[in-house]
Parts: sequence; C-alpha cells; structure tokens
Amino acid sequence: MNKNDYIIRLETEKDYRETENLAREAFWNLSVPGCNEHYLIHTMRTHKDFVRELNYVIEAGGKIIGCIMYTRAKLADENKEEKPVLTMGPLCIHPDYQRKGYSRILLEYTFEKAAELGYDTIINFGNPDNYVARGYKSCKKYNVCFEGDVFPTALLVKVLDENALDGRKWFYYPSDVEAPCDDAEAVEKFDALFPPKEKAWQPSQEEFYIHSHSVINW
Ligand SMILES: CC(C)(COP(=O)(O)OP(=O)(O)OC[C@H]1O[C@@H](n2cnc3c(N)ncnc32)[C@H](O)[C@@H]1OP(=O)(O)O)[C@@H](O)C(=O)NCCC(=O)NCCS
Repeated sequence: MNKNDYIIRLETEKDYRETENLAREAFWNLSVPGCNEHYLIHTMRTHKDFVRELNYVIEAGGKIIGCIMYTRAKLADENKEEKPVLTMGPLCIHPDYQRKGYSRILLEYTFEKAAELGYDTIINFGNPDNYVARGYKSCKKYNVCFEGDVFPTALLVKVLDENALDGRKWFYYPSDVEAPCDDAEAVEKFDALFPPKEKAWQPSQEEFYIHSHSVINW
C-alpha cells in the first residue's frame, strides 16, 4: 500500500459519531446479534483510563475507515509489584476496507507511539487470527494470566521491548472501561440513534464463543 493512500491522525470530537458508526458497521453481528462496541467507544472516551494520545483514526478516500483505542491497565506479580501496561481495543476497519492491511498500519503506528509514551507491553482479548501476524503471543508464553491462574486462549500479549516481561507470573487487571456495556437498555437506547440494522445470527458468533470461553492448560 502507498503511504499517500491513507492518513493516520488523532480522533477529534467532530469525528465521534462517524467513528461510532464505523465501529457499529464493523462489529455488527460479529460476536453476538447486534453489537455494543459503538456504545463502548462512546462511553470510554471520558473514562479515566482512556489514553487520548493513542486514539487514532485512519482515513482513506476522504472518510474514516478505521479506528483504534487503548486504555490503561496493570499487571501485578505475586509480591504485588505493579507494572503499567496498555489494553488495546476496540480496533476496527470498515468492512469494505478489510483484508487490505489497514489494521496492520494502525497497529504498527500506534505501537511506536505507545513505546514513545513509555509503555512496553500491550494486551488484548481477541481472536488470535487477527493478531499473531503483528507479533502478539499467547499470554501463556509470557506467564500473564487472570487471578486464579487462568490463561485464556484469547488473552494475547505484545511486547514492544523483548525485556519487558521477565518470566515471573503476572496477573492482568484490565480497566473497568467496558462496565457501561452491561447496561443492555442503555446500549439499545444509544443504538436507536443510528440507522436501523437487523440483528441476526452468524457463524462468527460461535467462533467468538469458543475463543472467549477457552483457556490454555498445558
Ligand atoms: C480484525 C480487523 C481489525 C482486521 O483489520 P484488517 O485491516 O482487515 O486486517 P489486515 O488486512 O491489516 O490484516 C492483518 C493481519 O491479520 C490477518 N487477518 C486479517 N483478517 C483475518 C481473518 N479474517 N482471518 C485470518 N487472518 C486474518 C492477515 O493475515 C494479516 O496478516 P498479514 O499482514 O501478515 O498478512 C478487521 O477485520 C475488523 O475490523 N473486523 C471487525 C472488528 C474486529 O473483529 N475487530 C477486532 C477485535 S477488537
């Protein structure tokens, strides 16, 4: 892809509705019938853990075709020593522009910016297919888990510096930024502000269920 084909820039307030609509288009029916990621984006921008300096959009053909967000999170070892890290997501590319390398561009660009901000570790919960080509590895390989020694298949770790994690066990504590999405009524009310779209089942929802309910034991 030619560098003149796209622009990467920070999101501005004027972009908010366009970005939310883009997220709705990209996530619709993907994990569940409908989606809540547009509401997540809407509410997360005012959350204390939101990292405004890493809130980028990518434009092509004069419109926003992708966006990426990060939140502050932490790792804590067994002696309660803490390490600040980032959680990546949501990340999305408009369906008409997927599989052309745009998310790769957004990820690699923001990895550099994250390193400039002093972070060396990025974590996200997602479909490994989307991330292993960007250098993400299983949480198990870095000994990063949830409390109770749970190593989810979908918990992926990207280190920006090979010495970032030293093999000791780290417990991952994400932000509570997704909490507002538990309010189904608020999600519905927000969704009603957008053009009507039909909720439906599709196979990716089963794929999501499998990924999000699987853990690595050995
Ligand atoms: C997932 C998503 C962000 C990927 O964006 P994209 O611009 O289509 O991805 P890219 O073209 O940059 O591809 C990135 C890499 O992922 C791989 N990849 C992308 N989509 C894939 C798929 N459906 N299955 C397997 N691998 C895939 C590609 O092999 C590529 O690796 P490469 O650069 O080494 O060839 C985009 O498809 C999307 O917005 N999907 C809906 C929302 C979503 O699932 N977001 C992520 C969860 S937070």
